[in-house]
Amino acid sequence: MGQHALIIGGTRGIGLGLVEALLADPANDTVTAAGRQVAGNAALDALDAAHGARLRRLAIDLADEASIEAAATALKAATPALHLLINTVGLLHGDGLSPERRLADVRPESLAASYAVNAIGPILVAKHFQNLLTHGERAVLATLSARVGSIGDNRLGGWYAYRAAKAAQNQLMHTAAIELARRARELIVVSLHPGTVETGLSAPFRGNVAAEKLFTPAFAAERLLAVIAGLGREASGRFYAWDGSEIPW
Ligand SMILES: NC(=O)c1ccc[n+]([C@@H]2O[C@H](COP(=O)([O-])OP(=O)(O)OC[C@H]3O[C@@H](n4cnc5c(N)ncnc54)[C@H](OP(=O)(O)O)[C@@H]3O)[C@@H](O)[C@H]2O)c1
Repeated sequence: MGQHALIIGGTRGIGLGLVEALLADPANDTVTAAGRQVAGNAALDALDAAHGARLRRLAIDLADEASIEAAATALKAATPALHLLINTVGLLHGDGLSPERRLADVRPESLAASYAVNAIGPILVAKHFQNLLTHGERAVLATLSARVGSIGDNRLGGWYAYRAAKAAQNQLMHTAAIELARRARELIVVSLHPGTVETGLSAPFRGNVAAEKLFTPAFAAERLLAVIAGLGREASGRFYAWDGSEIPW
């Protein structure tokens, strides 16, 4: 039977790289790209021309639970079951948000904006899409996190809102993994760190990154899909990097 995949944040960056890679694999019957603005997206239009009905689009805003619930309802009507859901949505800067260098930069508004998209959105995705992933066959719910969200690995400090929201995201997904393991034994829930990737999110902060440590979205997508393909049930609830190594919480 064919596979069905959903990439939330599939409009650009790593998410778009994942949509491209999944469409290139004939095992995937359908690949749904979800985001705030899916209509008129030039990259998706080009993929449409090449892949036709295998590519689907879904409108979703992770900062709005009603939108997440409506997206899950719409997908259920169109797709029998999901074998892979990767939520790539993330927010580091923009709209008055800028990573803090020191305590004096910490603002409640930045913390709330970061938590809304980086922590609350991902667990609401798990809440509303869980039924599409629990069907007795192997399925993976992956959320892109960031190594900076690891408390055990935090030696540099800074980036309070993003770091804390990603740490909260990790805890929320870990908690969901424990609950889902009790009733959906074929569902694997993981958090993934993609490495430093050349996208809009990393653009202002990658000046000191060595060329060999800066990945293209296509390379990151290929690595993340290889990690996902190798996951067994014992991996559920854990946090992995693009090279398959485990990251401490
Ligand atoms: N790039 C890196 O070096 C790096 C490193 C570590 C971790 N990560 C993580 O990897 C993930 C992907 O990052 P990226 O570099 O691909 O980022 P990106 O290029 O900035 O893309 C972010 C994606 O999130 C979507 N998005 C943002 N806010 C949203 C909302 N409220 N509702 C729905 N979609 C929303 C964007 O869609 P719109 O087009 O609607 O804005 C876009 O598709 C993030 O979770 C990030 O934290 C990235």
